[in-house]
Amino acid sequence: MIKTADDGQIAGVYYGRRLTDDPRMFSNYQKETREGITIDVPEPGCFTPVLSRAEYPVYGTGDYRTPAFEVRNESNGSLLGRFEYQSHRIYAGKKDILPLPSTYTMNDDEADTLEITLHDPVLHTDLLLSYTIFRDFAVITRHASFLHHGESPVSIRRAMSMSVDFDGSAFTMLQLSGAWAREKYVKTRPLTPGISAIQGIDGTCGGCEQNPFLALMRPDASEDTGEVYGFSLVYSGNFLGLVEVSSYDITRIMMGIHPINFTWRLEKGESFTTPETVMVYSGNGLNGMSQTYHSLYKTRLQRGPWREKERPILLNNWEATHMSFDEDKILRIAEKAKDVGAELFVLDDGWFGERNDATKGLGDWFVNKEKLPSGIDGLSEKIEAMGLQFGLWVELEMVNKDSRLFREHPDYVIGEPGRFNSTGRHQYVLDFTRQEVVDAVYEMICRVISGARISYIKWDLNRYMSEPFGKELPPERQGEFMHRYMLGVYGLYQRLTERFPSILFESCASGGKRFDPGMMYYAPQTWTSDDTDANERVKIQYGTSMVYPLISMGSHVSAVPNEQMNRVTPLASRANVAYFGTFGYELDLNLLSAAEIEMVKEQVRFMKKYRRLIQVDGIFYRILSPFESNECGWIVVSPDRTRALALYFQTLNQVEAPICYFRLKALEPGMNYHIAQSVGGKKKEMDARGDELMYAGIQIPRADLTDAGGDFTSVLFEIVQTE
Ligand code: DGJ
Repeated sequence: MIKTADDGQIAGVYYGRRLTDDPRMFSNYQKETREGITIDVPEPGCFTPVLSRAEYPVYGTGDYRTPAFEVRNESNGSLLGRFEYQSHRIYAGKKDILPLPSTYTMNDDEADTLEITLHDPVLHTDLLLSYTIFRDFAVITRHASFLHHGESPVSIRRAMSMSVDFDGSAFTMLQLSGAWAREKYVKTRPLTPGISAIQGIDGTCGGCEQNPFLALMRPDASEDTGEVYGFSLVYSGNFLGLVEVSSYDITRIMMGIHPINFTWRLEKGESFTTPETVMVYSGNGLNGMSQTYHSLYKTRLQRGPWREKERPILLNNWEATHMSFDEDKILRIAEKAKDVGAELFVLDDGWFGERNDATKGLGDWFVNKEKLPSGIDGLSEKIEAMGLQFGLWVELEMVNKDSRLFREHPDYVIGEPGRFNSTGRHQYVLDFTRQEVVDAVYEMICRVISGARISYIKWDLNRYMSEPFGKELPPERQGEFMHRYMLGVYGLYQRLTERFPSILFESCASGGKRFDPGMMYYAPQTWTSDDTDANERVKIQYGTSMVYPLISMGSHVSAVPNEQMNRVTPLASRANVAYFGTFGYELDLNLLSAAEIEMVKEQVRFMKKYRRLIQVDGIFYRILSPFESNECGWIVVSPDRTRALALYFQTLNQVEAPICYFRLKALEPGMNYHIAQSVGGKKKEMDARGDELMYAGIQIPRADLTDAGGDFTSVLFEIVQTE
């Protein structure tokens, strides 16, 4: 709900649970004015700046909180702006904001869009605030656009995608933070006067450290109850998510491109559009918020033939071989993958140029014939002849110094001439703000893809950006570098997905560094983490599920001791956790025992049976948080509540532990269910009513967990309604 004051300023008066549509609403709201404390109210009928809930606050007025935007007048250096309401319009549907990714509608009935136009008469610039309300989701998407009409240029120095002011500050802020191999841990903090913020300034959307997502929880909110407001940015570059509590107890939250090293110059007739923020309201706690994000992102952010389609069970050779392989070894691994029922073989890093270790070859997108004498075309044909699809790893934005590409085009890398240029994993960043660089990469990779039989591509990124400077950009446009880089990446994704529409793209950045909604628009799945240890994965997948649907989470069973943790977890637990994602294997199956191979075959059969429920139809509920205890639990339930699959996972085994009842969620209380419970290889069957399973719970078989190995063991519950 937005109100306009007599001087053309606009304020948001309410954002929350849906209200009835009545013109008398809010007629007396926010009339309070105060004089003299900091700044006078311009006139009666206007908002008091410090007290107002400004809709898109500007710098330099009597509102001394953080502004959503700043525009510099290049004719005199002024940062002042006063944008006044001009007009608004409401239309059915939603427009895209290409070249930026965004959520979309399939037809105009699905959403209504409000566009408010404001104008600054001194700058001669229009500001367009755009809001889309979806019919089927408790979602408002927002972005802002600037259109400049003046003769003299302006520079946008800050442009958030949205800003909302809430009355009161009794909120807990929830964020997803971590590091490489421990991405998206759930972290909370109570709000307090001043600023709380998360950010990413490394050229990705916060990398492993912060995800471009924040939630504000009312004090009584939990997983299933209470009010929660989610804010998720559809962007993969530098970002800021900021919450400020003022002395008048107003909570301001904003999210958008990070203002550090950002400016965007507008000449007459030019415009700039911010990325989109997806705001979710939930009256049903965090699970309610996550379910809205899941259904919106899997149906109206992911696109193409892979939207709402079960994902192939894959085998990736990375943890099996790293870069040390040849065609025979690859074919042996692929044959075994076919034997257990996998559907896709993915050849990871090391197939191109002189790539035998991380110091060489990156950027040379032509096959290494010493390792693969029949080329990618020949290898992919052989793999397809086995009855498997073939997928390939690439890292298109980077180059090793020791590569043909670098030797021929040393100028293609980013960095300021004459200055030290850091490497990360021995690689430099290619300047994707330059069309000729993107074109050169596009040509190279298209030659590989179109010459072979490729069904899947894993697009990796293994370093953060440093020394961001574009050699071809003029001084007044250097501040555009980081955003232009992202537009270059999105542009390449757009071209590749258009030219090869049936290829399934999986984004990756040393695991989950670039797991964000911007990437999800192009790549419907993301490698969730380089940490494939089951006990670490429950935490990472639990945190990731706050925003991202299971169908987007790359999850593999790997060998033990685990490559990152050096920990041994049971094969059954590794699979039980990996089921709740896209599912696959990342090990040499030839090294497993005959008994383990039988288990793997059974796991593949199981996933084929359940993947539609897990990935497409089911509704996911978190039950027990691994961040709060020794255990983790979750359930996926079919929309009609007739089928469900639940996981209980324990970290360390306990002696003489109390009896534990695992309380399931979202079943039909009055209906009977048949439950097949498996721990390790041991199965037990039982019947119970939905209310018992949810309110009293199902007893965790402690002795069976001990028999199955104790630590890091888990129980899988297959639940089917019987009447
Ligand atoms: C990092 C990825 O996360 C891994 O899965 C693997 O693809 C390596 N890069 C290859 O260099």
